[in-house]
Amino acid sequence: MAYDPVVSEPAAKRGTQRTAMIVDCDTGIDDSLALLYAVASPDCDLVAVTCTAGNVDARQVAENTRAVLELAGRSDVEVAIGRETPLARKLITTPETHGPRGIGYAELPAARMPLSSRFGPDLIVEEARRRPGELTLVTLAPLTNVALAVLREPELPRLLRRVVIMGGSYRSAGNTAPTTEWNVNVDPEAARIVFEAFGDEGSNRGPDRPSALPTALGLDVTERARFLPEHLARLAALAGCAPDGSMGGGPSGSSGGRSKGGGAAAGSAINAIVRYLADALRFYMEFHSRYDGFYGAFIHDPLALATALDPTLVRTEAVTVDVELAGRLTTGETVADWRRVWGRPPNVDVAVEAEIDRFFDRFVERVGALAAGRT
Ligand code: BDR
Ligand code: CA
Repeated sequence: MAYDPVVSEPAAKRGTQRTAMIVDCDTGIDDSLALLYAVASPDCDLVAVTCTAGNVDARQVAENTRAVLELAGRSDVEVAIGRETPLARKLITTPETHGPRGIGYAELPAARMPLSSRFGPDLIVEEARRRPGELTLVTLAPLTNVALAVLREPELPRLLRRVVIMGGSYRSAGNTAPTTEWNVNVDPEAARIVFEAFGDEGSNRGPDRPSALPTALGLDVTERARFLPEHLARLAALAGCAPDGSMGGGPSGSSGGRSKGGGAAAGSAINAIVRYLADALRFYMEFHSRYDGFYGAFIHDPLALATALDPTLVRTEAVTVDVELAGRLTTGETVADWRRVWGRPPNVDVAVEAEIDRFFDRFVERVGALAAGRT
């Protein structure tokens, strides 16, 4: 069955079908790439962004999120901060993966757009009630805000059109402990609440829902999305600059004159988006080169966001998933009952395959075009 995204009014007038979306994130390098992809996508109506503690603390997440939206020319998007700690555990951040401020070596001007006065989980509930059946919620972070939202409004799964989650590891190894993925590991209690609340297929089913279950993209597919220097080179070429963002300077592919902090040589013109990507990703690539054996970076969150706009990018299988909360070695593991030994109905559509080349072509084209337009 063809996927039929919600058509918002102004977009309908322009003849473009757009998915009305709220993003919950912990920006974070790959979160920032997902936000750029959302802004760059003509089929995305970015309604609001809510911020969760994770890669960095929630205040820094809100700062990064607004700075990236301003970089992309979208200071009009509402950005709200949510709960600043996991539901039941101490917050652990990951400066070694994303840098001390969450954006690698990049430096962005301090955000000027105001922070919303709404509490993140309240924003999710209020918008879902205001537009029942219309909104797609994309989660790129620990599920703290979403758990609080569903505790406040148990009807949330039926008020949202669709939920797409970056989180978990269903048939592959973890990235935080041997079997656990970062987002679930930071707040496993929240993940358990969300998988339980959103996973009731019978009561979620509606006439125009593409699937009643949330779609989860775990490391099984997101670790196939390896952003390589050649992707940045292609994107920069589309933006008309070198891969370090410098314009009209040395040959394409040159990265000469770049400081660790990412400043361009004095007086030279730069493409700010490409420069941001180069400096953020250089940190991320160095991390992956140390821990994962390749000079590149997994871009988990952009793949999830792209899937929310185009579900045909992945193939899913419905499975029953529970979250381990009390393991000696496995707390935060997303345990998937592939053989149905529990005899419980599936509660998650888990992505098992992804069309990675198609995703990267789209990412490079869209973000490259956005960068070209922001020169
Ligand atoms: C997830 O963890 C975070 O570090 C990334 O932003 C992504 O959301 C991958 O495990
Ligand atoms: Ca994230």
